[in-house]
Amino acid sequence: MADAFATASQLAGNAARFGWYSSINWLVGRQAQQLGSRPAYHPERPVPSRAELMRDLRALFVRDAKAVGDGLYPPTEPAGSVADHLQQLRAMFADLPETTRRRMSQDAQSAAEQPGADSVPDYYAQDFHFQTGGYLSEESARLYDVQVETLFYGSAAAMRRAALAPIADFMRGRDQRTMSLVDVACGTGRFLRNVRLAYPALRLKGLDLSQAYLDEAQRHLDGLRPAAFIAANAEAIPLPDESQDIVTSIFLFHELPGDVRRRVTAEIARILKPGGLFVFVDSLQMGDRPGWDGLLEAFPVRFHEPYFAHYATDDLDAIFAEAGLAHESTSLAFMSKVMARRKG
Ligand SMILES: C[S@@+](CC[C@H](N)C(=O)[O-])C[C@H]1O[C@@H](n2cnc3c(N)ncnc32)[C@H](O)[C@@H]1O
Repeated sequence: MADAFATASQLAGNAARFGWYSSINWLVGRQAQQLGSRPAYHPERPVPSRAELMRDLRALFVRDAKAVGDGLYPPTEPAGSVADHLQQLRAMFADLPETTRRRMSQDAQSAAEQPGADSVPDYYAQDFHFQTGGYLSEESARLYDVQVETLFYGSAAAMRRAALAPIADFMRGRDQRTMSLVDVACGTGRFLRNVRLAYPALRLKGLDLSQAYLDEAQRHLDGLRPAAFIAANAEAIPLPDESQDIVTSIFLFHELPGDVRRRVTAEIARILKPGGLFVFVDSLQMGDRPGWDGLLEAFPVRFHEPYFAHYATDDLDAIFAEAGLAHESTSLAFMSKVMARRKG
């Protein structure tokens, strides 16, 4: 039976998060405006009204709260202290003049100047979202979560948690102690923390190309049973064939060139056991919500996202099917889509 109290408290938490990050989003926008702004970009495709966006955001929060009430996954337990969060926000505001300067001059090169930049692929050593240091600095890893939540009005965590629903279906009747999950491009480990809270005994791994982000991910799991972290390129995952029950990948594919997207998919299919589950979460693509296509057109112009336009029209179904990952389900979750696929 659904737990109405759990549903209500998760919904209240989501609403508080939305209120908080909306205020920060507004402050960031105002400060960026004062620092200087590029001429507004007017997309040719349609954009949703604010009311439409808010309706969909509310639907995401309600779906998340119902999943908690239905016991699909536990309520949100934020990591870190309030003091730590405020410190991250302060650092984000302190970094704003630099990111604004970079956005104005379309300069996305600070990552290429970081130590270690010569040992990662060129497509990676760029300042995605104009983040200072790209993915290659400790400072960027510290700020990433508040930057992303600010951008999405506090909904990023709920969009990621949408991946827990197909995992819950898959896990039903199975013994988690004998099972393994790897999160490919785990970033700062926000999703891994959710998985760990839901499945304390699952064998968990997080893979990412950034050591700084993996260090942050390790911190996010503090106090919980640890996961194994692997610093590696998702194009060559250092795990044996058919070794994983579940692979997840969240907000990675839109940051990969088309050929790399295909290589990473082949790697995911290779490491999955037959019958294993792949759960993908990433941005909407063109046509998913036709009235929103203008947002997808504007996004890579406002934020440094060099492969987004290609991603937005790429045929993901074909890529996954070609790698042997059959369709199970697809659903939309605000600005993201969640696809569950099974290896044949
Ligand atoms: C937009 S972030 C998403 C991170 C995380 N999954 C989340 O939900 O926030 C993209 C992540 O992909 C990682 N990444 C990008 N290209 C990669 C590659 N070729 N191999 C491994 N990790 C990669 C980056 O280091 C970064 O942590």
